[in-house]
Amino acid sequence: MYDFSADMTDCAQAVELALAERLSIATLSGPGPVAERLVAAMRHGSLEGGKRLRPLLLRQAAAIFNVPMQQALTAGLAVEMVHCYSLIHDDLPAMDDDDLRRGRPTVHKQYDEATAILAGDALLTEAFALLADPQCHPDPAVRIALVTELARGSGGGGMVGGQMRDIEGEAGGFSGHDIATMQAMKTGALIRASVRMGAILGGADARALAVLTAYAEAAGRAFQLADDILDVTASAATMGKATGKDAALGKQTLVTTLGVDGARGHLNDTVATALSALRTFGPKADGLRATARYFASREN
Ligand code: IPE
Ligand code: IPE
Ligand code: MG
Ligand code: MG
Ligand code: MG
Repeated sequence: MYDFSADMTDCAQAVELALAERLSIATLSGPGPVAERLVAAMRHGSLEGGKRLRPLLLRQAAAIFNVPMQQALTAGLAVEMVHCYSLIHDDLPAMDDDDLRRGRPTVHKQYDEATAILAGDALLTEAFALLADPQCHPDPAVRIALVTELARGSGGGGMVGGQMRDIEGEAGGFSGHDIATMQAMKTGALIRASVRMGAILGGADARALAVLTAYAEAAGRAFQLADDILDVTASAATMGKATGKDAALGKQTLVTTLGVDGARGHLNDTVATALSALRTFGPKADGLRATARYFASREN
């Protein structure tokens, strides 16, 4: 019987340990020694407190194909590093201007803006070094496919492009379609990449990849819907980050257009869509099913 809470805890512990090991002076030094302040800021922005949902999705997708845990963990770390970098930059004064993240001061508050920008840059770069490492997968063609997938998910046509649209939206005038596109990119793209990277590690055929992509796109929509609802309904203490910020910044979200109840209804429908995408898979997809359900019920 699949146990979601045990799976989530186990994944978070494995990610925490591996990240702490990887984000060290020894591993980060290259032609020159890495600056200690930079490593400290990278660790501040990555260690402790994250739910580690993207590595979880990656390993749950990988589990369908019996991918070795170590491979899924390494690829998951790369996605988590990109995610942590995206949060460090998202919190900067030039973006959402937030002081609290995962219950602690944001990186630019703890250090300074320049250090936060550089810590994000270094995490992004390190993510790709990790995917290029043979411990990720023995076949270089698979490693290149992973690099391509993560680059597509995080770049201008993915997360970064979505962040640009998010800022443009502060001026108002977004249609429901514009909001959906922005969300599919800023949050959905990295969630989509996480699931697909698990499938790529597993050598999924085109059909399985298409099914998992449909699941991931719906799950990504659900995830951001929940984030936007929680921004209105939850407290900073439970979220570990300021709430009520979207309305304050004039962010365009589906809560703005549908209201909280409307958005919650849409969230439940979206989770149902994600689950129905998996109907041809057996119990091996129970992890992905449970995570999609968790996206609708999560409280932080
Ligand atoms: C928060 O992501 C930012 C969004 C993409 C909405 P998470 O809710 O996954 O944040 P952590 O990693 O658990 O802190
Ligand atoms: C953040 O969206 C998305 C990325 C970091 C790419 P939000 O701005 O809504 O995330 P929170 O609410 O600050 O975590
Ligand atoms: Mg933002
Ligand atoms: Mg933000
Ligand atoms: Mg938010």
